[in-house]
Amino acid sequence: MINLVENLRSGLDHKSLDKINILNEISEKNPDSISFTSGSPDSENYNVKDSIDAINYFVEYLSKKNKICFDSAYKMIGNYSKSKGIINDILAKKFQYDEGFSVNENEIIVTSGGQESITLTLQTICNEGDGVLVVSPFFVGVEGAIRTLNLAHFQVDETDEGVDIKSLESQIIKAKSEGCKLKVLYCTPNYSNPTGICMSLKNRLELIEVCKRYGIYILEDNTYGGMGWTESPPTLQSLDSNGRIIHIGTFSKSIYPGLRIGYIVTNVTLSSNGSSILLADLITKLKTMTTNITSHISQSIVGGIIYKNNYSLKEKLSKESELYKLKMDYLINCLSESFSCTDGYSWNIPEGGFFVIFKTPFKVNMEDIFLSAERNKVIWMPLNFFSTEARINCEKWNSIRLAFGNLSKDQIKIGVERLSLFFKQYHLEKSA
Ligand SMILES: Cc1ncc(COP(=O)(O)O)c(C=O)c1O
Repeated sequence: MINLVENLRSGLDHKSLDKINILNEISEKNPDSISFTSGSPDSENYNVKDSIDAINYFVEYLSKKNKICFDSAYKMIGNYSKSKGIINDILAKKFQYDEGFSVNENEIIVTSGGQESITLTLQTICNEGDGVLVVSPFFVGVEGAIRTLNLAHFQVDETDEGVDIKSLESQIIKAKSEGCKLKVLYCTPNYSNPTGICMSLKNRLELIEVCKRYGIYILEDNTYGGMGWTESPPTLQSLDSNGRIIHIGTFSKSIYPGLRIGYIVTNVTLSSNGSSILLADLITKLKTMTTNITSHISQSIVGGIIYKNNYSLKEKLSKESELYKLKMDYLINCLSESFSCTDGYSWNIPEGGFFVIFKTPFKVNMEDIFLSAERNKVIWMPLNFFSTEARINCEKWNSIRLAFGNLSKDQIKIGVERLSLFFKQYHLEKSA
């Protein structure tokens, strides 16, 4: 048999790339389980049936903008076009209204989802072996991109305020001492996946300052932006004046994930042979050679929805966030009825997003999910799933992530009852 490591790209056999598949397998084997693992939004918000109307709104927009008849506008959508996207002007207005930053259309790339935004950005900025700083714990898709691109990574601790600046500086020094060329820091300032933490304004400014000092780009993932119970501080993209931010996001949470529409926004400019070049143009070169264009049908749906909502999703998201907050409150309520802090259980109360971190009085691992699914029909993710740190004995990792976005109140109630049965029996067995 042909040896994978010797014959294919290295990194593809790394076990971390199987994490999501393992979870899918567990869910398939235990279809009657309640799963606290999915980062999906509430499927009640999907409105897939209205997507045809959204395409028609976008056609109306195109026909007005280009002074063409509807038929020609439909044909435009059916054809090839530029890799950067066909809804960039609509998105530029949305960013101005919703996020408060102005950006040129040619500084936006429409991607096939947030994951593509992350991978394309890292692939453009980094050579194999270059270093990425990650605020840990962090989104598994970033670890996947780092592994498949053969990059080095350095984990920076998170605090309740956001990024631990001392840890950031010590990781920068560590990377330099190991001779690693650090290129970029990845972070999710708004309602991180997995911890739900929202960075304070002070912390955002400090982070920008440190990265400027060391010449490091910041990859700002705003996947959960606008999904807070209260107003969050401005994005790094709005706060930065040094031209070092690559801001990414997705419509997977605010419209629906099956659309596969995300974006990269960056005004980073570089010099090459005496002239200047936009980082967005370099990322686009890679995009052209991978997916070429992002589905025009999906772009039209997103463009039509935003156009019809006066270039803003703010109202839609704030209504939906109120419902997510009710779910989060209900989850916290169920946890406090079933678990006692005196037994060593506790949880955080996030200010937005889809995730609650539930702390257990003992270590939890990947194997325990199988046990929990088979015995008690409830599935969750251990927090160490979102980190590559070996400090598994550190108390910080005695936690699990509970995703509540796509669960009904009944499912949350039954799920927490099952969690309680599982952990109580597990605790007895561990301490026997
Ligand atoms: C923080 C974060 N970034 C990016 C993504 C990827 O988004 P998409 O589904 O659009 O690829 C996710 C998905 O859950 C996420 O949680």
